[in-house]
Amino acid sequence: MSLPNAAVTQEAMASFATAENPRLAHVMALLVKHLHAFVAESKLSKDEWMQGLQFLTASAAITDEERNEFSLFSDIMGISSMVDVVSQPEGGTPSSVLGPFHNHDSLVRPNGVNLVQDQPGDKVWFHGRVLDVEGQPIANAQIDFWQNADNGLYPAQDPAQDPQNLRCKVQCDAQGGFELLTIRPQPYTVPTDGPVGALLAASRRNIWRPAHYHVIVSAPGFVGLVTELFPQGSAYIDNDTVFGVRPGLVVPFQPCQDPEVAQRFGVDGPLLEVSYEFRLARPA
Ligand SMILES: [Fe+2]
Repeated sequence: MSLPNAAVTQEAMASFATAENPRLAHVMALLVKHLHAFVAESKLSKDEWMQGLQFLTASAAITDEERNEFSLFSDIMGISSMVDVVSQPEGGTPSSVLGPFHNHDSLVRPNGVNLVQDQPGDKVWFHGRVLDVEGQPIANAQIDFWQNADNGLYPAQDPAQDPQNLRCKVQCDAQGGFELLTIRPQPYTVPTDGPVGALLAASRRNIWRPAHYHVIVSAPGFVGLVTELFPQGSAYIDNDTVFGVRPGLVVPFQPCQDPEVAQRFGVDGPLLEVSYEFRLARPA
């Protein structure tokens, strides 16, 4: 016996009520509700549905340990950013997308590390503090930092780079302070050789991200923060293909006026300076 549309939706939603975990039952029922509404409103054809399944199949085929096409799909649909927004703890620094190039194996380096060595790029003194939402310093917080090189590539994309290039973990001091020497990051395109790239091309969408630093800030007793900092005026700052730019995460890269900083890092020439205070919230 065929069921009217609304009855199909009701039955499919109710079918998850048996889940042991009530949150699973709730989330799956809502997912069914909204996916059914999407199918009904768009009057999705069987061919279009099959194209959707083929897209998912192709995404699975290209996904491996180093590359996740589903993660990229979530990013370009704005879903990763929506999850960030709805899970944002009050008073903390805004979070932003993790991206595909985080490496759990980054080395712990001394606070004050020079990550530049002899590679090209505008040298940047990146420093700041980690505070709680009341503005009190968090002693010994950890900064996990990574960025792309001056050629726009991350080590995973560029065999010429050391796997540890322009990435590190740094332990903040007792006042929550940290500093490191790095370079100005560069805009780059998301991977376009998979089904997501084909979708972006068919949609005539921008494939670029604005330049950014990636930072994960963590401290015992606080909600961890995954975020990004974007240079003011970077290309694509108003058209990020993964929707990661948020107010409060766009920062000026200003000329550093203090000659002692270059001396301290043992380098010559002009430096840029980026200063930022990260704020971590406690669990609700
Ligand atoms: Fe990135």
